[in-house]
Amino acid sequence: MKKFLRNFQPEPINYGNAGHAFYDVMKWVQANRPKSKPNIIMPSYIPGKLYRFVMAAGYETKFYDVSTQLDFSVDEIRGLIDDQTQMVFAVHFFGVPVDMEPLKNLTSELDVFLMEDCSHTMDSHLNGKTLGTTGDFTIFSIRKMLQFHCGGFLILNNKPWPFQPSTTKKVKSLLTGYHLLGSRIKYKLNHYNRGKNVLQKTTIPVIGYIDYDEEQTVTVKRMDRLLNWLYPTIDLEKITLKRRENVGYLWNHIDDLESFTPIGFDRLSQTKIDAHNTTSSANSDQKKYQLIEGYVPFSLPILTPPYSRNFIQQELLSKGIICYIGWTEAPFGLEGFPGTEQLQMRLLELPIHHHINQAQLDIMADCLNSLEIPEIIDTYSIKAGSEESIF
Ligand SMILES: Cc1ncc(COP(=O)(O)O)c(C=O)c1O
Repeated sequence: MKKFLRNFQPEPINYGNAGHAFYDVMKWVQANRPKSKPNIIMPSYIPGKLYRFVMAAGYETKFYDVSTQLDFSVDEIRGLIDDQTQMVFAVHFFGVPVDMEPLKNLTSELDVFLMEDCSHTMDSHLNGKTLGTTGDFTIFSIRKMLQFHCGGFLILNNKPWPFQPSTTKKVKSLLTGYHLLGSRIKYKLNHYNRGKNVLQKTTIPVIGYIDYDEEQTVTVKRMDRLLNWLYPTIDLEKITLKRRENVGYLWNHIDDLESFTPIGFDRLSQTKIDAHNTTSSANSDQKKYQLIEGYVPFSLPILTPPYSRNFIQQELLSKGIICYIGWTEAPFGLEGFPGTEQLQMRLLELPIHHHINQAQLDIMADCLNSLEIPEIIDTYSIKAGSEESIF
């Protein structure tokens, strides 16, 4: 972990989570460069939580679409920037990297800031550049990438004014320790039971929401002491390698990659390797596809056939595998975001984090390989802003 952090000139500023850091940066920019009606240019495919943070910071949001390949059009973003724009926010969704360089050129030209969201990746690089070093400001989520209950940090690659986190309020170490222990016990049990979910704790993850009538507030928290103590103990190389291996395993063991298309597969996979020419490690039998260097995923996002995503999620859930489905609350009832609408309906995240074991990977691959998708399936409807989904 220490080696990874050395990629950044300024020291990381630790927070209770990445969202808190984002909120603090928005407040800091507006305090030092006030605009009468500040706005931020955001992707339309985001969790409701981030949108709430933007509202709480007193910014207006202007949305740009995200394609089904999880990238965006720099020209569309250019068209949205006006004299009230403080910042553009761009994400490496689920760890699928995007080239931030053209966007950085644009934001520099128009004198707005670029916030690079690395919450879904860590220690990754593209075209020889570490992700998180291009944006003026970057957020990382320890919580997400290291499977902790909380934790995130901010990197200020550009610091036009002195910066102080807005609070000294801390996350509670005892509560964090309790959750950490609980999750580690669950992973161990899962491992010893060959992927079987003995605790029957497989609930559908809660769907995000946004209540436009509510006044949005954020209580920013810090997590300095705990994170600084944890950093030297974290073997980040091992974690990122395991995440990469898990994705590689699924790429090579899901038979129908046409129906369950890993997003960004064309640019993230390397040419075929001769099946006879592989080493004997457990994960490399009949290996055909390899990940490109530098790609460190959060989950494996796949684009499911239309109207089948919730059915597939349920099938996997019945086998003890919990899959997230991105953010069904996006694009927040707005029209004109065709990429986001597709993602909202069809994206499924296969879990590949470093605590996922071999048995679980096999359950996922076997389930998808034996799945028969009925003609008409998802009686799927989600009202924007609601927490309901109907299966
Ligand atoms: C794309 C994206 N960015 C940022 C965040 C914020 O991360 P954290 O949970 O650490 O606040 C999230 C969390 O949901 C996210 O999905």
